[in-house]
Amino acid sequence: MDNLNLVLTEVLDALHQTLSIQELEQLKSKYIGKSGVITAFMQELKNLPVEEKKEFGAKVNQIKVRFETALNNQKEIILANEIKEKLASETIDVTLAGRSAKSGSLHPVSIALTRMLNIFAGLGFDIADGPEIESDYYNFMALNMPENHPARAMQDTFYTKNSKVLRTHTSPIQVRYAENKTPPIKVIAPGRVYRVDMDATHSPMFHQLEGLWIDKGISLANLKGVIIQFLKLFFAKEDLQIRFRASFFPFTEPSAEVDILSANGKWLEVLGCGMVHPQVLKNMNIDTGVYRGFAFGIGIDRFTMLKYGINDLRLMFENDLDFLTQFKGVNEVSL
Ligand code: PHE
Repeated sequence: MDNLNLVLTEVLDALHQTLSIQELEQLKSKYIGKSGVITAFMQELKNLPVEEKKEFGAKVNQIKVRFETALNNQKEIILANEIKEKLASETIDVTLAGRSAKSGSLHPVSIALTRMLNIFAGLGFDIADGPEIESDYYNFMALNMPENHPARAMQDTFYTKNSKVLRTHTSPIQVRYAENKTPPIKVIAPGRVYRVDMDATHSPMFHQLEGLWIDKGISLANLKGVIIQFLKLFFAKEDLQIRFRASFFPFTEPSAEVDILSANGKWLEVLGCGMVHPQVLKNMNIDTGVYRGFAFGIGIDRFTMLKYGINDLRLMFENDLDFLTQFKGVNEVSL
């Protein structure tokens, strides 16, 4: 009996000093676990003479109940303390000034592209899209570049395993867009294009903007009119000097490259264009007896560099923040 009373004081003491649930669990198994101290008293019961059994049994039970009650109380105290501590350590000072999120800005290519889209929307062009992984048919064949045509060598091509290509230009979108429409067709199509090429002036991925206008009576005069209007608006320079130079593309005839006179007196080539070749019109299911059209392809990155005075093409694709943040606030819309 004395032993029992001693155990009770000892255990209550230990319980009150317990500060964590883990310690509490340890105490629980130490006293009422399988080989616990109180459990051992219970087991002793069977060895006692009958007359002692009743009193001793009642006492052990009483101790067990007191232990369990104290255990539960302590558990609640510990949990309440934990919540209190958590609340204290996680308080926030709502009077402190906030940390503001840094706002991003458009990439210069996006700024220039938006400017282009605005200009062409103003001239009445729709906007179309096409796949970057393209079939040989749309990238070459339909554009009058059959297999082994020397012009294919002009565009070093990435091929996929299943003999598709990464489109080398945005011109395939012309065919995709026009082949199941009847003119008037008046569309631009911006996008990424890919060529096996990389140095200070070439990137394996770059951006083009394709243009196509097919209708009755479309002539070279319309082509020149649209291109000249676009260039003057894009560079915001009414007296921009522009030169059309005869050139060759398999999908246009006649073809031209367009140069602009830069500030340091040099002519810079900025785009390719021409009247859509009759064979290409046929591939688009367009009646060549009724309709004519012109097409053009603009190198968006080149235009971006000229417009914003960027001297290395690689800067455009490195995503260096010091470079990019300089374009914050450039207004792409105002013409
Ligand atoms: N697709 C040509 C190129 O990538 C550009 C172009 C487009 C030329 C449309 C004429 C007409 O070089």
